[in-house]
Amino acid sequence: MKRVVYKGLTFEPYIESEKIQARITELASQITADYEGKLPLFICVLNGAVPFAAALFQQIKTDAEITFIRLKSYGGTQSTGVMKEVLGLAEDVEGRDVVVIEDIVDTGFTIKHLVDGLKAKNPKSIRVASLLFKPEALQIDFKPDYVGFSIPKKFIIGFGLDLDELARNLPDIYVLCDNQQ
Ligand code: IMP
Ligand code: MG
Repeated sequence: MKRVVYKGLTFEPYIESEKIQARITELASQITADYEGKLPLFICVLNGAVPFAAALFQQIKTDAEITFIRLKSYGGTQSTGVMKEVLGLAEDVEGRDVVVIEDIVDTGFTIKHLVDGLKAKNPKSIRVASLLFKPEALQIDFKPDYVGFSIPKKFIIGFGLDLDELARNLPDIYVLCDNQQ
């Protein structure tokens, strides 16, 4: 695999697509076992979680529903901590077993904001599945219930993750080269 360049920044291969898919298969088995017979509602956080949500949802082997919500907090390679809900939720989550599907938990502000907002709508239960988790970047007390990969505090792109909306279509995950962090 080769390095890629976006907006003058160089990224090197970090997690190959085969490894991502294999880990998603494991998460799907775990989630299937946990939600057997419960009709969970998966809420995919647009745009970044789409590839993860699609791969995960296809491998859930019990009846389940999926819907989408959009939030935004990032500009460039640093979390801004400023959030706004761009697209609201049409589905009623009251009494539902909700599983939020996120691409990455960095400072944790985005997911905390979303989970708190959803809790106010009285779901029966709420858990978070995040493909990636940066424990060292966390600024609040929060841990996703299902984590694909825990990674160091580095900026990554690919498999849904973007640099200013670019690189989401890469099947593999790349990390910003060290001399550019
Ligand atoms: P948080 O609120 O700091 O946890 O940021 C979460 C959001 O920031 C994610 O949903 C991503 O959109 C974005 N983000 C965080 N880390 C990265 C990264 O390494 N690459 C690309 N986007 C990221
Ligand atoms: Mg995002």
